[in-house]
Amino acid sequence: MNTKEKDEKYFGRGNPAMDLEVVKAEGSYVYGADGKKYVDFLGGAGVGNLGWGVKEIEDAIRNSDRPTYVYPNFYYRLWTELAELLAELCPGNLKKSYRMTGGSEAVEAALEIATMFTGRKKILSVEGSYHGNTIGALSIGATKKQKKFPNLLEGCEKLELPLNKEKLQQVEKMLYTKEVAAVIMEPIIVNLGVLIPEEEFMAGLNKICKETGTLLIMDEAITGFGRTGKMFATEHFDIEPDILCMAKAITAGHAGMGAVITTPEIDKKVGGEIGLYSSYGWHPIAVDASLAALNYLQKNKQKLFHNIDQLEQIFKKGVSEIDFRNDPEMRIKGAAIGVDLKDEEYASEIKQRALKNGLLINTEGSSLLFLPNFEMTQKTALEGIDLLKNCV
Ligand SMILES: Cc1ncc(COP(=O)(O)O)c(C=O)c1O
Repeated sequence: MNTKEKDEKYFGRGNPAMDLEVVKAEGSYVYGADGKKYVDFLGGAGVGNLGWGVKEIEDAIRNSDRPTYVYPNFYYRLWTELAELLAELCPGNLKKSYRMTGGSEAVEAALEIATMFTGRKKILSVEGSYHGNTIGALSIGATKKQKKFPNLLEGCEKLELPLNKEKLQQVEKMLYTKEVAAVIMEPIIVNLGVLIPEEEFMAGLNKICKETGTLLIMDEAITGFGRTGKMFATEHFDIEPDILCMAKAITAGHAGMGAVITTPEIDKKVGGEIGLYSSYGWHPIAVDASLAALNYLQKNKQKLFHNIDQLEQIFKKGVSEIDFRNDPEMRIKGAAIGVDLKDEEYASEIKQRALKNGLLINTEGSSLLFLPNFEMTQKTALEGIDLLKNCV
């Protein structure tokens, strides 16, 4: 049996597989078992912010004399170092980190913290959004398209798009009931094809949350660690989240990890009682990977963020010159690039053709989604855009 046949027989899949068996990934390229080389605009759906195979990170993992495992109720020096680093990197007064294994777990923890802190049960989120695969995350996610698990958690309410200042009236009405524990959203909604909320909406939302004692949770699983041209996408807005979720690029792809960070005040009330036990949260291998990845990001911040600006310009120009069937709406924030073709089938066709042509891209509904790594050269970006041209 070859890999594809064995996969079909034994491997559970939530979504259909793309026809690519990966054997190697290096920098901005992924290599298939068929010997083909692919330009990677997919970036592991936001995991690979530094490109694949960063030597500093691989060396840090290889050369560490870490313990095999640390039981969560013991002390471990590198947990405190990573938590200190996250407190430095995160905006506002977010200082206390909890160990998680990924984004869904971080979102669940955020919901638990908010409900326990406020004593309220309702959660407000954005219709069509994605926050992970667990029951809580699915309940606050899309209800219209994702009909399998609609609102299994009690009291989930959804805000319809657009997120503009006119929407604030509705937010006010909902939050002044003082029944809502938290509002949760991605600050730049990558999972809706890089949807950028209006600044006035975000500032107003923040204000209403503070007035009503509703916690504001920013899910930065994809947007965190530089993706939108700021360390966290929260920084694009005049907001002060009470809880922030991190995952994906927290190890730049070298190990599974997530984190949820909150303020000392919130932690004081819920910490030590809330549980949030995670056997594999911040496993020593993942901690080595994360410290190396985040130190690398910080050390090279100027160069990498400059390259993100350049990539933003290259994609803006390159994609606008492509002759798509419909007039596309481009939504770009740093290295988060959404191209809404207003036609889901057409977007999906282009994704299939791109794969055949040696280009990896993603789609979110009717949008093409590109998440290039921050080290991608201008030459590779143009190579990928050229391949894309041949797919329309
Ligand atoms: C915004 C957001 N939150 C949460 C998750 C879930 O993360 P994980 O796949 O690590 O559970 C994702 C994953 O795509 C995400 O995009």
